[in-house]
Formats: sequence, C-alpha cells, structure tokens
Amino acid sequence: MTPRRYHPALVALHWLLAVLVVAALVAGGVVLDDMPNSDPSKVASLRAHMTLGVAILVLMLVRLAVRVLTRRPAPADKGPLATVATVTHWGLYAATIGMAASGMALSAAAGLPGIVFGGEGALPPDFDGFAARAVHGVVAGILMLLILLHVAAALWHQVVRRDGLMARMWFGPR
Ligand code: HEM
Ligand code: HEM
Repeated sequence: MTPRRYHPALVALHWLLAVLVVAALVAGGVVLDDMPNSDPSKVASLRAHMTLGVAILVLMLVRLAVRVLTRRPAPADKGPLATVATVTHWGLYAATIGMAASGMALSAAAGLPGIVFGGEGALPPDFDGFAARAVHGVVAGILMLLILLHVAAALWHQVVRRDGLMARMWFGPR
C-alpha cells in the first residue's frame, strides 16, 4: 500500500540535515571563505567545518539507504512537475554528497587532516590553486539554488495549492 507520509526515520533525517546543510553552507560562505589562511582562528574554523561536513556525509548516506529501502507517498504533482520534483530531490542528494566529496578531496590535496587535526605544519597561503576548491565553490552555488527551488515549491504547495504537502514530511500515522 502507498503510505501517506515518508518513513519517520527519513522525516527525522530530512529536518536534521536541513538544519546542518544550511548551517554548513552559511558558515562556509560567510565565515570560512572570507577568512584568510593567516588568521589564527582559521584552523579551528576549518576543524569545525570539516567535522560538520563529514557528519553530513555519513547522515546523508544513511538517509539514502532509508530512502531506497522504505515506501514513500505517491508523487505530489502530475506530468512535468513530477519530473522536476524527482530531478530536484536526487539533485539535492547528489549536490550534498558532492560538497562533502569535493571538500574531502581539497582537504587531502592540501594535507589538511594532519594540519587541522594533528597540529603538524602550517596551512598553505590560500586554497586558490586547488581544483577541488573551485569545484567546492561551484557545487555550493548549485546546492543553494536547488534548496531555494525546493523550499519555494514546498511553500507553493502549502500556501497556494493548500494540499497539505508539509504533512508528508512530518510524523504521524502512515
Ligand atoms: C526549510 C527548508 C525545507 C523545507 C520546507 C522542506 C520541505 C520538504 C517537503 C515538504 C518534502 C516532501 C516532498 C514530497 O512530499 O514529495 C521534502 C522532501 C525532500 N527534501 Fe526538503 N525541505 C527543506 C529543506 C531541505 C534541504 C536543505 C534539503 C537538502 C539537503 C532537502 C532535501 C529533500 C529531499 C531529498 C526530499 C525528498 C525525500 C527524501 O529523500 O528525503 N530539503 N522537503
Ligand atoms: C555538505 C557538506 C559541506 C558544505 C555544505 C560545505 C560548504 C562550504 C562552503 C559554502 C564553502 C565556501 C565556498 C565558497 O564560498 O566558494 C566551503 C569552503 C571549504 N570547505 Fe566545505 N562544505 C562541506 C563539506 C566539507 C568537507 C567534508 C570538507 C573537508 C573535509 C570541507 C572543507 C572546506 C574547505 C577547506 C573550504 C575552503 C575554505 C577557504 O577557502 O578558506 N568542506 N565549504
């Protein structure tokens, strides 16, 4: 039978990850990006950002497994909009995992694990020459656009169409 709501584990992970991903995007774009590597607090900021980023990756992979293994409601839209919703949802998974992957690639290329967690050596003067840094910045922009589209669509359903879409991503009888 098709349930009325997403699985409660997926609901919990959706809202936890919404907070963590937005926090990582805002802190990365507003704090980290503007902080020169010579700033004495840069290593501590990177430690927090990298820890959060890896935690997001682990939670996102658990969520992917829950999503694939559990039943979910029928599509909320018909026709081309249903395709837009499917593409956006998988795009959100891909972009979030892509952020963590490019962050880890940058970290490996710049030797950050030893510097940030092991206290060995100093940060490079900047990350500008690293290809993974450019990818991390571009994917951040894509992820922000997907989130804006996703939230706008959720509000459109809830406020304009009044079809109670939010309840599908909340706890209750399935
Ligand atoms: C405050 C902001 C957000 C709101 C209001 C919101 C709302 C919703 C709603 C209502 C659904 C259910 C859609 C349906 O029934 O078909 C949903 C699904 C989904 N949302 Fe969000 N969302 C938010 C933030 C995010 C963020 C930041 C991400 C990305 C990490 C995200 C990723 C997803 C995905 C991938 C689905 C599909 C179901 C799944 O696999 O979990 N959402 N969202
Ligand atoms: C989903 C997870 C992640 C998100 C949303 C995220 C977000 C961001 C954002 C928005 C920026 C600034 C980009 C720009 O404005 O061009 C940034 C920079 C950075 N991130 Fe991430 N990140 C994530 C995961 C990671 C991981 C796992 C690592 C390393 C293990 C990492 C390492 C870095 C580094 C080294 C920078 C560069 C800081 C600088 O230029 O000074 N990130 N991140």
